[in-house]
Amino acid sequence: MTDALTPRPEDKFTFGLWTVGWQARDPFGDATRPALDPVESVHRLAELGAHGVTFHDDDVVPFGSDADVRAKHLARFRAALHETGLVVPMVTTNLFTHPMFKEGAFTANDRSVRRFAIRKVIRNLDVAAELGARTYVFWGGREGSEVDLAKDHGAALDRYREAIDLLASYVVEQGYDLRFALEPKPNEPRGDIYLPTVGHALAFIDTLEHAHLVGLNPEVGHEQMSNLNVVHAIAQALWHGKLFHIDLNGQHGPKFDQDLVFGHGDLLSAFALVDLLESSGYDGPRHFDYKPLRTEAIDGVWASAASNMRTYLLLKERAAAFRADPEVQEAMAAAGVPDLATATLGPGETLADLLADRSAFEAFDADAAGDRSHGAVRLDQLAIEHLLGAR
Ligand code: GCO
Ligand code: MN
Ligand code: MN
Repeated sequence: MTDALTPRPEDKFTFGLWTVGWQARDPFGDATRPALDPVESVHRLAELGAHGVTFHDDDVVPFGSDADVRAKHLARFRAALHETGLVVPMVTTNLFTHPMFKEGAFTANDRSVRRFAIRKVIRNLDVAAELGARTYVFWGGREGSEVDLAKDHGAALDRYREAIDLLASYVVEQGYDLRFALEPKPNEPRGDIYLPTVGHALAFIDTLEHAHLVGLNPEVGHEQMSNLNVVHAIAQALWHGKLFHIDLNGQHGPKFDQDLVFGHGDLLSAFALVDLLESSGYDGPRHFDYKPLRTEAIDGVWASAASNMRTYLLLKERAAAFRADPEVQEAMAAAGVPDLATATLGPGETLADLLADRSAFEAFDADAAGDRSHGAVRLDQLAIEHLLGAR
């Protein structure tokens, strides 16, 4: 039976092949699960109601494969997409696993590594375009340092910009219908990573030659690793017209990257995030970038994939109920939330008019404004009541 909590392709849920395919190797322990064939992942995700899959080049074609082997892997993968109807809305590059990238990729001190990295991306941009992807993600996990003095940070940003400018000009020259999405992360695997937050990445994008083709792929847990508010980050990305893609997952505050199931970290923040996404007009994929817990065997992999989608749909349903609740609407009005949409100057009013308006300053009742209660706690409690099914 299908209902509002059954994922359907229209919900645009997508998964990285590297998420369900993670074998749960960590710095302290071996893999706890066998390798998953990408073809199997495509079929299982389709059965679960996903809309698409995303991948790094090396997730589909093992690094170092010769041309024949590469063609075979791509053909099998394409056939699985064809059989299931899954789409590939986003593709990305692995510029972090091979030891050559240990000191960076686009920002490596070694120029030959930088040149290889750009070539590796270009080869995969062709695959992305052929599969109809609309977004190409850049997560610079190795772009950074552990030792401040081991790198010229200004030069690193020059080289980062040079790489993105070159790759964007390639996309323009080829006429590909692809946009780039930079994915911020503060640390891990590098001690400190360049473009650590949404804010840093937005400022960097402004300096690019093809800035209009470059936006963001923020990840919930990555902003939270920086102890930042991910709802504010996504709202600002939307405000700049730069939310090109999103990585949904869960994280318990500033610590190592947990990549939990979406909603399994800060649930109230996840609720506000779904409320924001669903009301913002964002129509891109709801992409889950999570890692099935190392404690789980393969059954837990598919259960956790389903959990991401079900949690999103539950939150979407709860957010709609919250917004439709007359008491919430009244509490929103009492808190003055809708009032912020009114411009601070009236229609046709000038700064001179504001300066001449005695009620705005000289006769303003500052104490009354200071005494006012804004009712924010009431709104938070109403959200909790809806989340816990009490309303
Ligand atoms: C992380 C990152 C990665 C990237 C992925 C796409 O969890 O550290 O999010 O999973 O999203 O590699 O390039
Ligand atoms: Mn992550
Ligand atoms: Mn991610």
